[in-house]
Amino acid sequence: MKFFLDTANLNEIRDVASWGILDGVTTNPSLVAKETMPFPDLIKAIAEIVAGPISVECISEKAPEIIREGRELAKAAPNIAVKIPITIEGLKAIKVLSGEGIMVNTTLIFSSTQALLAAKAGAKFVSPFIGRLDDISQDGMGLIEEIVSIFENDPYPTEVIVASVRHPRHIVDAALIGADICTVPYAVMEKLVRHPLTDLGIERFLKDWGKVKK
Ligand code: E4P
Repeated sequence: MKFFLDTANLNEIRDVASWGILDGVTTNPSLVAKETMPFPDLIKAIAEIVAGPISVECISEKAPEIIREGRELAKAAPNIAVKIPITIEGLKAIKVLSGEGIMVNTTLIFSSTQALLAAKAGAKFVSPFIGRLDDISQDGMGLIEEIVSIFENDPYPTEVIVASVRHPRHIVDAALIGADICTVPYAVMEKLVRHPLTDLGIERFLKDWGKVKK
């Protein structure tokens, strides 16, 4: 499974990139709004740090405008994936932009039918938001299971990005199901590494090392 970082913060991106495990980045308007750098510079800076796909969201709502905006966004760097919300207008734009070889990440996916249609239109990625489904007591991970099975039955090259991740168990379950990618917030990414027994083990080994005759 690939790991994307769900942030627009350059410090977080630089940090996780230095761990050697980062495959890509996803941003959205809410994440970009937290940063101070002008949007075009920010996107270019992110794309320079990470070689993998960098998802950047279109805010237009009609297909011709989404297509225009998507083409502009994609010019920023070769690794830009244009994020398009799943709507009928969005589908039309996905078809055109994907046909031009632009990577499209279909966002705000909350059902299997939305994922299936995005894949048929040629999207490179679909992003089901599992945390937001869990928030309204629906089964976010159940949706991932369904979409992964559907893409196995009807083999689309579209990759499933597990999005709106809230905690480490989401990542374990996504990997067990066989999702292609998890996009993870920085705070959750840190939790994936830490374990109290590892900390205790290091502490004990260092203490005992102090007793070794050197
Ligand atoms: C994914 O691409 C989105 O940016 C993100 O995962 C949304 O997560 P949230 O529900 O925590 O806002």
